[in-house]
Amino acid sequence: MPKREFEDQEIWENLYAAEEGQLAAGVIERSWTETEDGERTFDRRVLASAKGRDVIDIGCGTGEFTLEIAASASTVAGIDFSERALKKALERLQSEKTFNVEFNLSRADKLPYPSESFDLAISRRGPAADTTESIGESYRVLRKNGEILLQEIGERDKQNWAQVFGRGQIYPGTEKVSTELEKKLAREGFRNISVEEFEANEYFATIQDILMRLENSPIIPDFDKELDEGHVQEIANLFTTPKGIKTNTHRVLVRAEK
Ligand SMILES: C[S@@+](CC[C@H](N)C(=O)[O-])C[C@H]1O[C@@H](n2cnc3c(N)ncnc32)[C@H](O)[C@@H]1O
Repeated sequence: MPKREFEDQEIWENLYAAEEGQLAAGVIERSWTETEDGERTFDRRVLASAKGRDVIDIGCGTGEFTLEIAASASTVAGIDFSERALKKALERLQSEKTFNVEFNLSRADKLPYPSESFDLAISRRGPAADTTESIGESYRVLRKNGEILLQEIGERDKQNWAQVFGRGQIYPGTEKVSTELEKKLAREGFRNISVEEFEANEYFATIQDILMRLENSPIIPDFDKELDEGHVQEIANLFTTPKGIKTNTHRVLVRAEK
């Protein structure tokens, strides 16, 4: 059984190292989605909700979005367990000279903040709802009536890739991600929970572009460029269209209150 990415910091260090290698080599992935895939909607909602509030960004990665939030928030704290990602986030912070942001190397299931420190907790494809403990921590650090906004990967994301590989981030899943999230959040005390699903087509220009994505994100657990070469070739054989090599995205957006 492949390890889930939230169990293993090393998986993320390797993914960020692969991304840094790609950037250093100057190669840029060519992919695009048709119609709104939920990501822009999520960003818009977070930026609107952050105005004048104390915000925590759980699984902030390299901090690009955390710093965008800071432009309208009162304060923002970004946490992530990847040393590589946080190093990049701190470099960004220094070059932007923003004073209402802090970054902390920490796990989502052990947040380094006192209870009731924030008005808004956000997690953009991050670990806030990965485990009972991480949901409990998000709940603990929120003030009464505080809000949580999550963007999660849905069970149908990259469905045709998961079928060819026989494995995927959530594949095969037993329950809908949205149903599971609603239940887990309610169990930890969240209320007024609402869930929305977004699906879109995504296209990759060439096999090389698919390989880049597979090397820098946890879409296929234990992806190995050599061992999985046949799978990637099969994807190109089966799903090449005049617009590019087709797959799909599935995002679940969640809002809840403490
Ligand atoms: C898909 S990336 C998203 C990064 C960022 N939110 C963004 O939208 O660009 C997920 C991030 O969560 C972090 N992460 C995963 N599990 C974690 C955990 N248990 N505790 C803290 N960070 C975690 C990873 O290191 C990674 O930076």
